[in-house]
Amino acid sequence: EDEAFLAAFQARIDAEEKIEPNDPMPEGYRKTLVRQIGQHAHSEIVGMLPEGNWITRAPSLRRKAALLAKVQDEGGHGLYLYSAAETLGVSREQMTEELLSGKAKYSSIFNYPTLTWADIGAIGWLVDGAAIMNQIPLCRCSYGPYARAMIRVCKEESFHQRQGYEIMMTLARGTPEQKEMAQDALNRWWWPSLMMFGPHDSDSQHGDQSMKWKIKRFTNDELRQKFVDATVPQGEYLGLSFPDPDLRWNEERGSYDFGEIDWDEFWRVVKGGGPMNRERIVARRKAWEDGQWVREAALAHAEKRRARREA
Ligand code: ACO
Repeated sequence: EDEAFLAAFQARIDAEEKIEPNDPMPEGYRKTLVRQIGQHAHSEIVGMLPEGNWITRAPSLRRKAALLAKVQDEGGHGLYLYSAAETLGVSREQMTEELLSGKAKYSSIFNYPTLTWADIGAIGWLVDGAAIMNQIPLCRCSYGPYARAMIRVCKEESFHQRQGYEIMMTLARGTPEQKEMAQDALNRWWWPSLMMFGPHDSDSQHGDQSMKWKIKRFTNDELRQKFVDATVPQGEYLGLSFPDPDLRWNEERGSYDFGEIDWDEFWRVVKGGGPMNRERIVARRKAWEDGQWVREAALAHAEKRRARREA
């Protein structure tokens, strides 16, 4: 890749042109997108597991229907994203194998267990809230298929976030035991939600280049701060407290100051050592193996139809 090509590509990015699948692009740009979109897709698919855990135990038919729809949406987001990644010349099989072998990451957040019904509220409110904060700017990502996929994904995520907040509100206004459940869920999900935004900018390996290529529009720390600023007043409205003694409004900055993330925990979970990493991959491997015959049957069916059409 010569200098002139890279400069011409950067000029297209700087002019806010969308890059499309058949456009020439630097190998690094393609690789970064395959990595990020693939990881994002895996996160949606693995993300179905912690919440799927509560579908049969939802406290009412209304809650069950909403949760079922939400988990189904996540499956849909995963498929959209795999398709977006496929436009870059990588196959779904390849991406799945990378997930199952541990080569491809997925979001750290989905390696924590869902212990009570309140966790479903906390996940919708905090985890989907963090996901939206990260994904709204991706609607303006320089790669066309990823940006377009994000538009619908974000609309659905905002419904997810509201259903979660509504669960939290119901619990927070319920019996003392229910309020206690909501508080306990916030205590356990707060820090892992902040970890979703990734390492500090100074430790973000890909951050600078992805900003330059306008794949990312904000840095990890910028998005984390926006999330804290948006979420703390919501928690206060619920009458709940955050498990961070250093959390306080900073008048000068017009933002909340907050404590330091436990980065040892973050990297341990990212590298496979979180409380549920093993279970998540075991579940995905089983789903992939159990689905083998369905994939074979679908291919055989498509092949038969093609042969019949050509006959
Ligand atoms: N969980 C797991 N891995 C993470 C996390 C996290 N929360 N944050 C960062 N990492 C990984 C990165 O993937 C990278 O590893 P890699 O080189 O093997 O890919 C490494 O840590 C260093 O991080 P960065 O250099 O900062 O990585 P990047 O520039 O890709 O930024 C981010 C990370 C912000 C997650 C980015 O990839 C992104 O915006 N992805 C799209 C959104 C997404 O995947 N959301 C998933 C959760 S939301 C949901 O699915 C509902």
